[in-house]
Amino acid sequence: MKDSKRNQLIQLLAKHEEDYISGQTLSDKLGISRTAVWKHINELKKDGYQFESAPRKGYKLIHRSSDLSESSIKWDLQTNWVGQKVYFQEEMDSTQDYAHRLARKNAEHGTVVITNKQKKGRGRMNRSWESNHPEGIWISILLRPDTPPHHASQMTLFTAVSIVESLRLITNADIQIKWPNDLYLNGKKICGILTEMQAELDQIDYLIIGFGINVNQTLATFPEDLKNKSTSLSIETGKEWNRKELIQIILENFEDHYHHYLENGFHHTKQKWMNYAYKLNEKVEVKTPKSHYSATIQGINDEGALIVKKENQQLETIYSAEIHW
Ligand code: BTN
Repeated sequence: MKDSKRNQLIQLLAKHEEDYISGQTLSDKLGISRTAVWKHINELKKDGYQFESAPRKGYKLIHRSSDLSESSIKWDLQTNWVGQKVYFQEEMDSTQDYAHRLARKNAEHGTVVITNKQKKGRGRMNRSWESNHPEGIWISILLRPDTPPHHASQMTLFTAVSIVESLRLITNADIQIKWPNDLYLNGKKICGILTEMQAELDQIDYLIIGFGINVNQTLATFPEDLKNKSTSLSIETGKEWNRKELIQIILENFEDHYHHYLENGFHHTKQKWMNYAYKLNEKVEVKTPKSHYSATIQGINDEGALIVKKENQQLETIYSAEIHW
């Protein structure tokens, strides 16, 4: 309840950014007391928002915060359900672990967990994910889709498409998707996605899609041992990017893709994925626990599995492997 009033207050203030809005109007529109309005405004101030307040006129916003916080992420966020609940903390072990705890306490579909620094960021295959600094985007989305578990990989793929399209829109950078779900820019990784699921045989209980995007690290701050394989948006574009704005666009795009996927199936995602596929029709090395061979990437099938053509021209469908070149 408290949370939805804060959301409504944020929407009202965002709409009246240029003018004063009186405490009484806010109190009437939100159906809460003027003291409650004042308390919410104070919470916003703690998140870095600044207001001018004048007797009889009310509040006028004079500074929007671009720091990450629950309020700044919700400010003007154009979604219906993704990010209506945001958990933000300056530091966490891992947004993924935090989201699992929330999920076990019945947190709702679309809940978003964000932090500035992860002490124990996790990557795929039990690897660690370097994220103990506020220069990237570290985020997990909790979903409760009414779909069977084998759809989880498709959802990871449309997450990758949502992120690619958002980052391309804002930065104009030629970002691509390396199967299954790493994002690459100029031959180096800038984003990784980790999908984890709690499910019965035929039904997903919950799904947590976490992603880490290297945004504002510079050559001076980027870890030396990762430089040959990974990079950041700033290093590649020479600019600093507003993480809050990127997060909002990604969440909005994600919600759109989610609905499109539920209504029209995987076909649309698949087509988009192919447009952004890294090394499509190029020769790569495929490494599975049982084999290692050269092949050419052909695309993905309707389940999101990778199709490659081996040197003997035989087509192979890959559900799990590491792709190198
Ligand atoms: C990978 O490429 O191996 C996946 C990396 C996923 C990192 C993100 S950052 C936010 C979320 N929290 C984590 O601990 N991991 C994911």
